[in-house]
Amino acid sequence: MTQRRKFLKFLAASPLLANYSAFAQEVEETLGQRLTDPSEVINVFEMEAIAREKIPPAHFGYLATGVDSDTTLRANRAGFSRFQIKPRRLVDVSQIDTSVNVLGTEASSPIFLCPVGSQGAYHVDAELGTARAAAAKGHHMILSTQASTPIEAVVEARDAPIWHQLYATNRWENTVAMLQRAEAAGCSAVCLTIDLPGGRNTETQQLLMREDTRNCSSCHTGQAKPMLDGLNTRGGMSLSDPSMTWDVIGRMKEVTNMNVIIKGIEVGADAALAVQHGADGIVVSNHGGRAVETGLGTIECLPEIVTAVDSRIPIVIDGGFRRGTDIYKALAMGASAVGIGRPYCFGLGAFGQAGVERVLDLLNRELQITMRGCGTPTITSIGPDYVQDAGHRVLRGRLGREIF
Ligand code: GLV
Repeated sequence: MTQRRKFLKFLAASPLLANYSAFAQEVEETLGQRLTDPSEVINVFEMEAIAREKIPPAHFGYLATGVDSDTTLRANRAGFSRFQIKPRRLVDVSQIDTSVNVLGTEASSPIFLCPVGSQGAYHVDAELGTARAAAAKGHHMILSTQASTPIEAVVEARDAPIWHQLYATNRWENTVAMLQRAEAAGCSAVCLTIDLPGGRNTETQQLLMREDTRNCSSCHTGQAKPMLDGLNTRGGMSLSDPSMTWDVIGRMKEVTNMNVIIKGIEVGADAALAVQHGADGIVVSNHGGRAVETGLGTIECLPEIVTAVDSRIPIVIDGGFRRGTDIYKALAMGASAVGIGRPYCFGLGAFGQAGVERVLDLLNRELQITMRGCGTPTITSIGPDYVQDAGHRVLRGRLGREIF
């Protein structure tokens, strides 16, 4: 048994790495050698297993990690099992239409590619591969501040307006410069991430870094990400501003014409504050379980947020979506679109652009099968009657609105 194999077995048994899906753990380590064509991969979990073989351990650790013991990360997956689908029968489902329009952004699927930084760490295709796959399949894309590729090149590769994910810096002039650059590049919205005001403890990443025997300093030369080019870094620059409060929405609106979307909402009260302060949309997110530990799964947060927003602005949600049924549940509960992050990066790491395309095909197929099976041929036809919160029906009364 190779050292690597031994180490992976140790990791699989470790509670710290319980974030690896049970399925991916069970898939044998040589899957990537047997499945050389992305079309052979049957689901996102297999893609994860192949990516785990192909991506260098430290980089896979960065992708896979949650914080502390990865409890929030696991809650994102576990949350879906609280909700059950209620199909209807004898509806004409001969034509399925998955198209959506969110804040003027048209897409052929409600599955959005949410921001993931440093995609060059997973495959040489990096963000251009992701953007080309999104373009080929008609998916909407949100680009990270931490992207390895300049935003202008990504917009060109996507060939349609994307949204820019923003980490407001500790220097407002730099935040304004990034907003202006994103707008000039053709972005139609900015998603301000608000869930990381301080540090975090990414132990799974540290554990996998120990396994990596490469000389990391030859690549990690301290060179800043392209989005930070030309910014004023005198006196040090940080990609978080711990003094930021809700007035940031108004301040952003003064300097940009892009829609302002707030990413990282987990409770109804904050969703209401976002609306009150003029946000054009929100993303329900716990940063893929990479921010606050021992939180709820985002799908569990969704009902009270839907109630608080009361259809005034669109809600996008991410966190743990791996199956078409997960996506269906969120749409039924009131989300306008669903974000995926790690799944398309598994595809990218496994096969480059072709792997991203495969992941999108797999999830779209699963979503379409669910839509057909439930008698809901369009995204707007998927409503609260199609999902139920098993064992938690008391929520109905508390929400004051028929969510389930
Ligand atoms: C970036 O957003 C990260 O979670 O590492």
